[in-house]
Amino acid sequence: MVNKKNTSILIVCLLLVCAIIGFLFVKNQDKNQINPVSVKPSSQTENKPTQTEFNKQKYSVDEPGSIWWIVNKSRPLPEGYKPDDLIVPDIKLRLAQSQEQMKISNIIVPELKNMFSAAQKEAVVLVFGSGFRSYELQKQFYDNYVAQDGQEEADRYSARPGTSEHQTGLSFDATNVGEKCHLEICFAETPEGIWLKDNAYKYGFIVRYPDSKESITGYQYEPWHLRYVGKELAVELQKTGQTMEEFFSLN
Ligand code: DAL
Ligand code: ZN
Repeated sequence: MVNKKNTSILIVCLLLVCAIIGFLFVKNQDKNQINPVSVKPSSQTENKPTQTEFNKQKYSVDEPGSIWWIVNKSRPLPEGYKPDDLIVPDIKLRLAQSQEQMKISNIIVPELKNMFSAAQKEAVVLVFGSGFRSYELQKQFYDNYVAQDGQEEADRYSARPGTSEHQTGLSFDATNVGEKCHLEICFAETPEGIWLKDNAYKYGFIVRYPDSKESITGYQYEPWHLRYVGKELAVELQKTGQTMEEFFSLN
């Protein structure tokens, strides 16, 4: 009889203890829900991977022939520089194959051809207007422009011999069939100019002398002058709207 009574008391006590533990557990859960900020971020959240930084040292901006080589009014080419891999690309040319200007560095030819065919698929017919120009050919051009417009004006749109990107073999001027707005700012409004501005970066090319950047590049807007820098940098410059000089903090 006494044993039975004691057992009953023990059961009641156990139930009571369980009820108290249960109550405290539920209360603690609620507290965490009401105040979630009190939860310390896990080390996994703290070490969230950051975006990989662009490696500006990947290629040289000083080395002749480097795809990031920067040539401008204050960074002339070495005397007599001529790339040793010049080739006439198998694309639509403005002049006869025999003309020096119809050549370009072979390293950019695959992407040049890809770009011309991509444009063609969208019914935009690009024409290769002028590629490599030797020191001597650039001198002929520059001297003619000076005779025509005076040196001050010529310097705004033509490089002096020995400072032209065309001599690197990494640049070319684009035009169209019929040469509408050939070497004129209105090229920017032609289907070819519009297409290049929006798409050239996908093939590693940039519009090297953009609008409103004359104080940085030294040249007026040239929507026809494309420079190969490789896709990685071209994408970055398109995204940031910077010139090579700005991106690499030169000048
Ligand atoms: N028109 C560009 C600046 C050149 O002559 O190279
Ligand atoms: Zn040009």
